[in-house]
Amino acid sequence: MIETEGRMYQDLTKILVTREEIAAKVDELGKKITADYQGKAPVLICILKGGAVFFTDLARAIDLPLTMEFMAISSYGSATKTSGVVRVVKDLDNDILNKDVIIVEDIVDSGVTLNYLKGMLGHRGAASIRIVTLLDKPARRRVKDLKVDYSCFNIPDEFVVGYGLDYDQKYRNLPDIGVLSPNVYEK
Ligand code: IMP
Ligand code: MG
Repeated sequence: MIETEGRMYQDLTKILVTREEIAAKVDELGKKITADYQGKAPVLICILKGGAVFFTDLARAIDLPLTMEFMAISSYGSATKTSGVVRVVKDLDNDILNKDVIIVEDIVDSGVTLNYLKGMLGHRGAASIRIVTLLDKPARRRVKDLKVDYSCFNIPDEFVVGYGLDYDQKYRNLPDIGVLSPNVYEK
């Protein structure tokens, strides 16, 4: 239990990544993407809702004439596990034909969600597609050949919340990333 901060922190067993560590990584990643996409105007796609907090910080760390798109998907399953069946809840507003697409996700777990998305956007004729994730849980990967192009933090196989990531739609506004106490979801 963490007693030094606000109410939501009482539901964490520990803080895994602090807001300072996140800010430093996001800045570094923004510079890298800026360099890698020189002369280009990529389309940055936010995967709602989990990717939203990371997305807005990352976009401002990239110095390119990028455009923003938002997409919402839902994967059937329990609150802490993906089933592998993905459904588009909100699609892109503009087409991505011949565009350099950068998908921004909160976390790659099994990889099923991103693998599906990458395939789908590839069929729409994007010039290139790269994947950016804030967190990666490599131990849980089921899609072994999924290429994650940019990843900020590798984390162990624990259920985390904060900085966009939720449990039952809550904790997204937590500024740090922490491990959710099992008694919250075993209740
Ligand atoms: P995947 O298809 O198994 O890679 O699942 C990715 C999605 O599962 C993410 O976009 C999250 O919404 C959710 N997810 C996986 N692990 C966690 C976690 O530790 N905390 C919160 N959401 C998670
Ligand atoms: Mg989620």
